[in-house]
Amino acid sequence: MAYAFEDIRKVGVIGAGIMGAGIAQVLATSGFEVVLNDMSAEAIEKARAGIDARIDRLTEKGRLQPEQAEAAKARLSGSSELSALSDVQLVVEAIVERLDVKQGLFSELEKIVSPETILASNTSSLSIASIAKACDRRGRVVGMHFFNPVPLMKLVEVIGGAATDRSVIDTTRALAEAMGKVPVLAKDGPGFIVNLGGRAYYTEALHIHGEGVADPAQIDRIMKMAAGFRMGPFELMDLTGMDVNYPVSTLIFEGYKHDRRLATTAGHAYMFEAGLLGRKVGQGFYDYDQDLPKLPSVPEESARTELSVVLPERATDFAALTDRGLSAAADDGAMPILVSPLGEDCSSMVARLGLDRRRTVAVDLSGVQMGLVTVMTAPGGSDVLEDVTRWLTQAGLHVEVIKDSPGFVAPRIVSMIVNLCCEMAQIGVGSPADLGKAMTLGLNYPFNPLDHGDAIGAERVLATMQELQETTGSERYRPSLWLKRRARLDLSLSAPD
Ligand code: NAI
Repeated sequence: MAYAFEDIRKVGVIGAGIMGAGIAQVLATSGFEVVLNDMSAEAIEKARAGIDARIDRLTEKGRLQPEQAEAAKARLSGSSELSALSDVQLVVEAIVERLDVKQGLFSELEKIVSPETILASNTSSLSIASIAKACDRRGRVVGMHFFNPVPLMKLVEVIGGAATDRSVIDTTRALAEAMGKVPVLAKDGPGFIVNLGGRAYYTEALHIHGEGVADPAQIDRIMKMAAGFRMGPFELMDLTGMDVNYPVSTLIFEGYKHDRRLATTAGHAYMFEAGLLGRKVGQGFYDYDQDLPKLPSVPEESARTELSVVLPERATDFAALTDRGLSAAADDGAMPILVSPLGEDCSSMVARLGLDRRRTVAVDLSGVQMGLVTVMTAPGGSDVLEDVTRWLTQAGLHVEVIKDSPGFVAPRIVSMIVNLCCEMAQIGVGSPADLGKAMTLGLNYPFNPLDHGDAIGAERVLATMQELQETTGSERYRPSLWLKRRARLDLSLSAPD
């Protein structure tokens, strides 16, 4: 039987790099005795100095009392000998991400620690069951996946492998809570919850860019202004670095046996291979030698102007614009025709409704409350686009003009995020509640995808996915069965099976 949470007093942390140092710090400030181990004595010294400095900063800011800070520092010791971990009740491993090295370490540890000691790995990409394979007591091996920077990021994914004992999972969750973290239970599969769930945002943005629909700066603006993301997908990729996000994307795509929903693009591979890694090298999707584009301010509404248009379908979608002076009229053969596609591109709508291509403009109003609208036309452009964008700007809206795209930009990326989260619920990567916590706390998403899908309407998300699949012919856009069933039965996307 492995140790219960009440037994845990002393914890070993192996690997004194970025993650190990953060984990050791939080354990010590949460009242646990910590032995920080690394094969490099220098790494331990460096980590120790960093931890002490961060604890001092917390004290200066009044978050820790001086006595608490001193006690936390006193609880932390370092050793480059693995034998110093002989009396710990739990070990968190945060060494190099290599299966053979982790397996070797875990099997070595079994000779040192007590039979009850829990062995946790902070791995991002290896399966817990594969690490446990080298152990005699596989039931005690568990995943405890922290996020960088550990002291600030609230989320911890707790992962049980095929053989992990239930009690070990419970103890690990309780330890994460005692560290002030929010634990979620993740299935032992590629990318667990967060690294898998994050794929939709990046890869769909890359597909939209790859199709020539919009450039990175436009996509970033739309996702920030209309969908509420703190950072656009391209800014985020530049920040994490193509040397991190490209291999992670590839690994997850391979791990899920080439599910097209997870595929990245040739453009992403190109950036990685060309060394255009992002901020760390000064050049990625943006050039960091130059001033970065700033978010435009939403224009003031100028003197009220009227615009008469033809609204051939779903005229109620335009309610937010009728307030601003838009009015529907009978077609005089010259006035603009506005359409509000749900997953269709402008070309498909023109064809389906038999519209005059040169007078038709498709408008995405999903971000209108935030002051942004996206517009697109069928190939060949539209004679009325300029008039329509001028009127929208005068009506106090920032306008992004993109090339024809099924689902525009924001609804397309958001639908992909919701659909992927539904699929993750379907295949049991996490419970609906844990998926929501993981996506908001681990990825800083402005919404829980399942709740957001409910707010948009599961029917609407399903229609967007079906249109995307129909228009592109790609199985990338096939709707999750979880989404389909709940949309058809009018159930919440968080409704369990
Ligand atoms: P890092 O490179 O900063 O530190 C790794 C440390 O482990 C080094 O100090 C190295 O000397 C030591 N080490 C390597 N092999 C060892 C061994 N056999 N015995 C003892 N010490 C050994 O790495 P980082 O970024 O802290 O990552 C550590 C682990 O955490 C990896 O498994 C990584 O996948 C995972 N992880 C990393 C995250 C990140 O954002 N950097 C996020 C979540 C998990």
